[in-house]
Amino acid sequence: MNVAKWIDVTTEKLYSLDHFVVPQHYERDIESILIPHGIIMDRVEKLARQIVADIPDVEEPSLVVCCVLKGGHQFFADLVNQLKKLQTSSGRSIQLSLEFLKVKSYHNDTSTKEVKFSVTNNELMYYKGKNLLIVEDIIDTGRTMEKILERLSEYEPASVKVTSLLIKKTSHSNGYIPDYVGFAIPDAFVVGYALDYNEHFRDLDHIAVISEHGKQAYAL
Ligand code: IMP
Repeated sequence: MNVAKWIDVTTEKLYSLDHFVVPQHYERDIESILIPHGIIMDRVEKLARQIVADIPDVEEPSLVVCCVLKGGHQFFADLVNQLKKLQTSSGRSIQLSLEFLKVKSYHNDTSTKEVKFSVTNNELMYYKGKNLLIVEDIIDTGRTMEKILERLSEYEPASVKVTSLLIKKTSHSNGYIPDYVGFAIPDAFVVGYALDYNEHFRDLDHIAVISEHGKQAYAL
């Protein structure tokens, strides 16, 4: 059976705010729920299994799980919790170390060409010879991940895999597709589950489409 690489989320299946619990302070700022929190959690569990199934069965398997901040932190936390429970096919547990890369490329709801890193060369030296799993919240144009991979390759990791919870179906894509993807979403600006709009909505559990009211209320 040919299993799709991700779950295709369409705008035909939006959930009304009335059907889920949404913080009262965001009620007017989101239009609808695109992916409820429970479905995200179930999908993260499956992604963790796929990631572990692909880890070579060596004597001391290890993985440096690298969170792209800030948007990736919730996916990273839930994914690491799942990875900790799993073992390779011959029953070996995987030694995980956790790293963080802070990157910024958005202004309001628009991707900028410039990708700003807050990480020093010294910190990146640690990646030499390591097996990396980069954990990102969303791939939009693909520019941020392209830059991250370019920068990391200078430090000669042993292997690099990328997981992104979301990939946006947009004509602005540079064609980059991560190794493990949770959901493909329509070309809309989404928030919640640590994805933000100018630092707001990170405290919403579901992934939701922002409303015009929300865009205006939190614009810079
Ligand atoms: P890209 O460089 O265009 O692929 O954008 C990737 C980065 O932009 C992600 O790491 C997010 O931080 C941010 N981003 C892109 N689309 C969205 C969105 O719909 N909501 C929130 N952040 C987004």
